[in-house]
Amino acid sequence: MDSSRKIMKIAIIGGTGKEGRGLAYRWAQAGHHILIGSRMREKAQSAVDDLKTLLPEGSLLEALENSAAVEKCDIAVLTVPYSAHRETLDLLKENLKGKILIDVTVPLNPTKVTRVSMPKEGSAAQEAQAILGEDTSVVAAFQNISYENLMKNSPLDCDVLVCGSGKEARQIVLSLVEDAGLIGWDAGVINNAVVVEGLTSILIGLNIQHKVYSAGIRITGINR
Ligand SMILES: NC(=O)c1ccc[n+]([C@@H]2O[C@H](COP(=O)([O-])OP(=O)(O)OC[C@H]3O[C@@H](n4cnc5c(N)ncnc54)[C@H](OP(=O)(O)O)[C@@H]3O)[C@@H](O)[C@H]2O)c1
Repeated sequence: MDSSRKIMKIAIIGGTGKEGRGLAYRWAQAGHHILIGSRMREKAQSAVDDLKTLLPEGSLLEALENSAAVEKCDIAVLTVPYSAHRETLDLLKENLKGKILIDVTVPLNPTKVTRVSMPKEGSAAQEAQAILGEDTSVVAAFQNISYENLMKNSPLDCDVLVCGSGKEARQIVLSLVEDAGLIGWDAGVINNAVVVEGLTSILIGLNIQHKVYSAGIRITGINR
């Protein structure tokens, strides 16, 4: 991480799962302070203990219940299955007030994961924004990168599209994308999350067809 960058306390709600651990692994390596959240603190502690075996000594990782993690954080990240999305947000709504929430959720239909399926609000991120209201800025990101990729130590062949309410919030998330070792793109307003979330079903279909876990997306034609 660029030494001028602030170390952030990042709460990962459902951080005991696959995607949450992958993001924690990347951000802890960049020097951020990771608060692994779970419905059960003991489960969070077990995820922290596992991650510590993979990370350099001195990495900043803490185990907390989801609400305590969100209360203590600078920025929160939601990595739970879509079936738990609404219930989790309802429970944490008060704790999330005044914060940015990065929503990684893909509204997959478990029996038809290769078919795009969106909630009536348009996307999971828009649904989150509707549940949380104006006091929380929801930014959609990381839906197109698998945990298998996040746990690799090699450069990643996948970009991250960032959509959300407010350019400033998107810029903060784009910095965290960079700290995770990925290229991020400002993909505009939260309504655009429908495309990003929908791409995941297509990538899952490609993974199945080609017997891999690593299908991703790349923006071309722009020099950075
Ligand atoms: N896996 C990937 O490669 C990937 C890639 C892109 C996007 N995503 C998206 O990221 C999200 C998480 O995916 P994942 O693969 O990490 O999921 P996961 O491992 O199945 O679950 C993540 C965590 O969610 C919590 N959780 C599960 N059921 C819950 C419930 N009913 N209520 C509250 N919390 C519950 C659990 O934490 P506790 O039991 O500790 O509370 C669990 O460890 C999904 O929306 C997925 O579509 C995943």
